[in-house]
Amino acid sequence: MSTQDNKGITAIIVAAGSGVRLSADCPKPLIQLGNRPLVSFSLEAFELSPKIGNIVLVAGQKWLKEADDISRTWAPTKLFSIVKGGKERFDSVRAGMDKLPDNCRIVAVHDAARPFISQRIINDTIGALGKFHGAVPGIPLVDTLKIQSEGLSRGTRDRNQFTMTQTPQCFHREILEEAFRLADKDGFSGTDDASYVERLPGARIAIVDGDPDNYKITTEYDLNRARTMLANSISHGYRCGEGYDAHRLVPDRPLMLGGVNIPFDRGLEGHSDADVLCHAISDALLGAAALGDLGAHFPDSDPAYKNISSVLLLEKIHEMLKDSGFSISNVDATLILQKPKVAPYIKEMKVNLAKALQTSPENISVKATTTEGMGFEGRAEGVSCRVVVMVKGD
Ligand code: CTP
Ligand code: MG
Repeated sequence: MSTQDNKGITAIIVAAGSGVRLSADCPKPLIQLGNRPLVSFSLEAFELSPKIGNIVLVAGQKWLKEADDISRTWAPTKLFSIVKGGKERFDSVRAGMDKLPDNCRIVAVHDAARPFISQRIINDTIGALGKFHGAVPGIPLVDTLKIQSEGLSRGTRDRNQFTMTQTPQCFHREILEEAFRLADKDGFSGTDDASYVERLPGARIAIVDGDPDNYKITTEYDLNRARTMLANSISHGYRCGEGYDAHRLVPDRPLMLGGVNIPFDRGLEGHSDADVLCHAISDALLGAAALGDLGAHFPDSDPAYKNISSVLLLEKIHEMLKDSGFSISNVDATLILQKPKVAPYIKEMKVNLAKALQTSPENISVKATTTEGMGFEGRAEGVSCRVVVMVKGD
């Protein structure tokens, strides 16, 4: 299919659910996964698909404002419209169907809660529409299928007769519209889009190979699994990070290094407490996880961070690292300063850092060196710090 052929194909991404089973403190599509919203993965996948011409995002009332920014970032060339969803998934799909481009002849309905949708599945489901009215991805059941009620097993079914369906579910537009009209007429309510189309006489819906990774994030367990999968997919196990920071020594400021207030006639100048050791470690950790840098997350223009303890910032950075599925393997830091002597304080620094990073002090090394009078550190105009870290995907 040439890229011109994609003009009549629209992806409807449904993301208007309330996420009750996850009970997060924000709408499910906005939950951070690898430091980006969950819904962004689906937007990106369809934006990148040569099969897709347009994207309609069905968002929840609570995050309609954010939906605009997110879609602009992750579906910059294909976003056609953002629509407010309805009470049930069916209502949301229909809200999307009402806002399709006029020239649309094929729709691919996808749950935003399935971030690991592959290009292969998008290609296969849409590709099957040459011969079928619709196509859905399905995966085989691996466990034995029982009928149950009131906690009792009431019989066994041949699992080979069943498949578990995923999304995207793809249909010729007029077929899905007709199926929805019929459902309205009969008061029918189904749990996926195919269940509506199946009711049309003669409807043929292909089942193409799905993928266990294309699962739907429903519970906390699913979310943790997604975080681990994502970290593993980008980390290949271990990753290293490098951090560097320098601050000027000035009068009337405390000298904070690794969360220890070191007696000296001057301290480090900065918006926060200017703890170069914490800053360099923070940048190294962000670098290892490719999460940007300290300034981007905690801008020095923000009054909330004025004189803030950098140990607190380090704790927040560690939370972000964990959320991205990484844990700390080791940290190796070198403080570069002519004076004062910091050796007597290094043990305390290591304990502070270990606490903030929820690791053992044995995984943290802090060293110090002079530059024998050379450079800004040697002239005691400032202090710098270099750090390397190793992190591992959980
Ligand atoms: N969905 C929707 N509108 C609804 C209900 C669901 O757009 N009224 C979307 C969800 O946002 C999700 C997909 O349909 O992307 C599958 O639904 P589900 O995983 O059940 O998500 P939620 O309904 O948000 O979760 P829960 O059922 O736990 O409340
Ligand atoms: Mg639901």
